[in-house]
Amino acid sequence: MKEDILLAMLARSDGYISGEDISRRLGVSRTAVWKYMEDLRRAGYVIEAVPRRGYRLVSRPDKLIPTEVRAGLDTVRLGQAVHYYTEIGSTNDVARELALKGADEGTLVVAEKQIKGRGRRGRHWVSPAGTGIFASLILRPNLLPAHAPILTLTAAVAGAEAIHELTELPVGIKWPNDLLIRGRKTAGILTEMSAEIDTIFHVIIGVGINVNTDSFPEELQYVATSLAKEVGQEVSRQRLLQLFLQRFEKWYDCLPSKRDRVLDRWRRLSITLGRQVTVFSPNFTVQGQALDIDQEGALLIHTTNGEQVRILSGDVSLR
Ligand code: BTN
Repeated sequence: MKEDILLAMLARSDGYISGEDISRRLGVSRTAVWKYMEDLRRAGYVIEAVPRRGYRLVSRPDKLIPTEVRAGLDTVRLGQAVHYYTEIGSTNDVARELALKGADEGTLVVAEKQIKGRGRRGRHWVSPAGTGIFASLILRPNLLPAHAPILTLTAAVAGAEAIHELTELPVGIKWPNDLLIRGRKTAGILTEMSAEIDTIFHVIIGVGINVNTDSFPEELQYVATSLAKEVGQEVSRQRLLQLFLQRFEKWYDCLPSKRDRVLDRWRRLSITLGRQVTVFSPNFTVQGQALDIDQEGALLIHTTNGEQVRILSGDVSLR
């Protein structure tokens, strides 16, 4: 009901809508309308009420609630179903549970805050309330499990494009999927898959973007940044999430047959290729020049002792 009232007010965003009009349209009492307005105010909406004219939406909080995420979202599949939490362990975990229960492709889980936000390699992802995008998408791609890494690259491309479109910041991708601005990390992607040897059941793409984060824990202070810090003002999380979903859907639709387009776009956004790098993996460390990525998204390195090696996973340090 709150969602319907909000939609009615959003549709009349240039003026007033009377309480009587709302109650007639939605078939509820005027008292119920008044109560829902109070709920919306408590959620951060500023609503003006003028006798004989009605209600007017003055301002909206930048929350990732489903009505707001879907309003003006130009996608066919991604983000059509949105599960919203003010606080959660990890959006990837909830998305996985939903996927196992048969949730549709494109279902999105978002949270204002994560208590157990997870990064790659078991690291913690700092997720304070209302500051970032903490979101997970359920995909059921028509790909072989061995080709799944392209999904991470696709998400990185979508994230970089969305950030650049909204802020014009110089954002680049560090292999495989870190988004960096002026050398500091602003976003990461955690891809988790449920598959058999030749069949993917589902993939969860978890996206974390530091949007309006104003401070980081000591150990991240010189390596992490947020869009607001870089641009000098708050950035709309709602709009950024919508842009991300739109870009992601566009590139996802290229898979599998037009995967080269995704790979080429990734190459153009990369800040890794052509650079001297050190790659840290649990079992080895490699130094050399990053040459390219192959069809599977593996990083090709020309090592300092003259060999060419292919790296499927690891952390890259740019030198
Ligand atoms: C990384 O760079 O290490 C990946 C970070 C991914 C963080 C996101 S936030 C939403 C989703 N839920 C999680 O627990 N992790 C991902």
